[in-house]
Amino acid sequence: MTTTPILILGGKGKTGRRVAAQLDARGIPYRLASRSSEQRFDWYDESTWSPTIAGTDTAYLAPPVGPTGLAQAGRFIKQAADEGLRRVVLLSGRGVGSPGRDFAVYDGQLDLEHAVQASGADWTIVQPAWFAQGFSEDFLRYHVLGGEIRVSAGTGGEAWIDTNDVGDVMTEALLNEAYTGQIIAISGPRPLTMTEVAEALTAATGRPIGYVDLQPEDHVKELIGDGLVQEDAEAVRDLFAVIRNHRSEYVSDGVERVLGRQPRDFADWAQETATTGIWAD
Ligand SMILES: NC(=O)c1ccc[n+]([C@@H]2O[C@H](COP(=O)([O-])OP(=O)(O)OC[C@H]3O[C@@H](n4cnc5c(N)ncnc54)[C@H](OP(=O)(O)O)[C@@H]3O)[C@@H](O)[C@H]2O)c1
Repeated sequence: MTTTPILILGGKGKTGRRVAAQLDARGIPYRLASRSSEQRFDWYDESTWSPTIAGTDTAYLAPPVGPTGLAQAGRFIKQAADEGLRRVVLLSGRGVGSPGRDFAVYDGQLDLEHAVQASGADWTIVQPAWFAQGFSEDFLRYHVLGGEIRVSAGTGGEAWIDTNDVGDVMTEALLNEAYTGQIIAISGPRPLTMTEVAEALTAATGRPIGYVDLQPEDHVKELIGDGLVQEDAEAVRDLFAVIRNHRSEYVSDGVERVLGRQPRDFADWAQETATTGIWAD
């Protein structure tokens, strides 16, 4: 078994934490890297890059959101491969680079995929659907607590995925070289509209949770009000536009292909998550 730690960039995030837990369970060493990790790493402070790369040969890369951050991640992967990284598993986005689905919103993510593919390191790219944990561990949690999901998704659906499934797939991709050179698309078992999401959350929490369909520009304003910078608020609006335009209403079979089991359903995830108290008043 390797004693070289696997580098987890974004290791305290929703997926990085789960990859770390999977590696822990298997007794495989890893090193978390982020601004608040012991290995201090900042996408926007290049003096932190070389010390982070040193002594590792495999990395899980959860990139930042937004064009500037994605470009930084592309620069980082080139430097990392030059400095000895041999293998990388990239968390990308749903539909990036797929024919007919290549919206401008994905340009930065597609450039990053190309940077990873051209880096010289062995690579696997995983393209997940939207994370169910957006409603429990990210900004949409506050919408659930407030009883109103306020986003610009229109009547479009998304095949929400449990990030535990994402973490399991990522771990397999990190440890199994059979996935080298593959792009793996993963999603939950069925698309749900935001109204259906709100219904599932209502059933799980026992509290009424509605859906307010914002106009995209109003969504940007609300995101800025929540503390996002303009560029990132527009990037989030553009991501929601993919759902709004009914371009995410499909299921991808990567979880079953990699893990040999079905992905978790959003309603089941919501029921179990409610029991943790994360949505309690
Ligand atoms: N949410 C979704 O539905 C979804 C779906 C598909 C793909 N994605 C992609 O998933 C990625 C995010 O992954 P995630 O959800 O696992 O992460 P996350 O929960 O958003 O956590 C972000 C992580 O990055 C670290 N971080 C933030 N700013 C940083 C900086 N300037 N330098 C270094 N580290 C920084 C944070 O830790 P510190 O605070 O310690 O720095 C944290 O560990 C994005 O690229 C997104 O596009 C998301």
